[in-house]
Amino acid sequence: MFHVALFSMNYFIKTFGCQMNVSDSERIAAFLEEHNFSSSDNIKEADLVIFNTCGIKQTAENRAYSMINNLRKEKKRNVQIIMTGCLANRADVQKRMKSKVDLFFPVKDIKEFENWIIENYLEIGNWKLEIAAPNKITNKENIAYLSINPKYSSNYAAYVPIMTGCNNFCAYCVVPNARGREVSRPAEEIISEIKDLIAKGYKSITLLGQNVNSYKSPTTINYQLSTKNAQKEINFATLLKKINSIPGKFWINFVSSHPKNMDDKLIETVVKSKKVCEWIHLPVQAGDDDILRKMNRRYTQKHYLEQIKKIRAAFKKYKPQHQFSISSDIIVGFPGETKKQFLESAAVMKKSKFDMVFFGQYSPRPETVAWKMKDNVSQKEKVWRENFLNEILKKTAFTNNKKYLNKTLEVLIEKEKGGFYFGKTRTQKNVKLQAKKKGLVGKFTKVLIKKAHAWNLEGEID
Ligand code: SAM
Ligand code: SF4
Ligand code: F3S
Repeated sequence: MFHVALFSMNYFIKTFGCQMNVSDSERIAAFLEEHNFSSSDNIKEADLVIFNTCGIKQTAENRAYSMINNLRKEKKRNVQIIMTGCLANRADVQKRMKSKVDLFFPVKDIKEFENWIIENYLEIGNWKLEIAAPNKITNKENIAYLSINPKYSSNYAAYVPIMTGCNNFCAYCVVPNARGREVSRPAEEIISEIKDLIAKGYKSITLLGQNVNSYKSPTTINYQLSTKNAQKEINFATLLKKINSIPGKFWINFVSSHPKNMDDKLIETVVKSKKVCEWIHLPVQAGDDDILRKMNRRYTQKHYLEQIKKIRAAFKKYKPQHQFSISSDIIVGFPGETKKQFLESAAVMKKSKFDMVFFGQYSPRPETVAWKMKDNVSQKEKVWRENFLNEILKKTAFTNNKKYLNKTLEVLIEKEKGGFYFGKTRTQKNVKLQAKKKGLVGKFTKVLIKKAHAWNLEGEID
């Protein structure tokens, strides 16, 4: 039996990468606070610094190395440095950083982290730990850490992970190695987390997973919509329906979807569910069929464009009074991508009329299939290609945004700065408006749109 004594150890978490890492950090924070650590806003004052890393591109890796190196150079104080996240279990990273980092742990091995804390802090001075409820984190599966109640960073918008890992092995991508195989979280647990959030007044729920549309609940629960109360598997469309039926006013979003798993049933569910927002993020990655094949994406340009057509038609049919938006991810300069092949990405962009695209200049990643391919598109050419595509995006986004002019939309206000509010529409459009009324952060507000630009809208409270 451990007993709790007074101790004041501070932790600081530096998060790199995507929303999944942000969400993981919220669970690590809660875990540390359960173990009597307190959060510090200042890395310089923390006793324990956790780097939650990202390995998607070399630039993301380098940022983590440089921060860790700088922190280690501060010789005066005794800081423990932990590396978790998507770089933590790579052998080359561990070799490179072993003299700087006290512990490497992939987030799914949070039990190992707990053992390390016990070993390191129980021995020292008067520090004693309160050990977390043992049944909470003893499950050895990858998914167990998701059962920790997170310390959400916002009090009105929450990320809710529904799965982790990935089975797709796109040739360029570290995620399947970094996060392991795809594992879905039980539907009951997801629904219970969301019900709690809504009861606390949360307005926006974003479901997270590398490939949310291949979600499959690991348990079968009583599926009330079916006849005779049969036990049925919960897929992503069913999960969305169940979340949509939770009482209360809130928005539901989800990222990311894979085009090969975007079936008609799911499109129909998205457009028919009132709380699900009118935004679909569908990463295409490339337009050329040969490049898509080399990337191991398992769809063609034709298939992708058909999906876009179906999504547009469904929104127009079921939500004719709403605007909708479609965004994507595109990699420029994948090994061997010729100019002609690159122009197919431009063609897809023109046809899809995206509202937003996140561009990635191809970065070779260790332990991926493409690592062995020659990275033969120059850096200069990658920059040129990204700029070229960005010009197309600017035009399609501006054309789409002009449709919002003189319309009144619901905006969730996210922050106030310099006399202005900044918020988002249900379609993920950034909106700026004068902060004439106080106290609207975290609230739904009706806004009349007066100006449209490519990257944002401007309006006034209606
Ligand atoms: N699971 C999502 C999907 O299938 O689209 C995306 C996951 S990944 C975390 C986010 C984005 O990073 C990808 O969509 C891709 O565009 C980009 N990315 C991944 N690996 C990359 C690499 N080696 N170089 C450049 N961009 C990369
Ligand atoms: Fe990476 Fe592909 Fe999995 Fe997305 S689907 S995480 S790009 S391997
Ligand atoms: Fe990076 Fe891992 Fe996300 S590699 S983008 S933090 S899943």
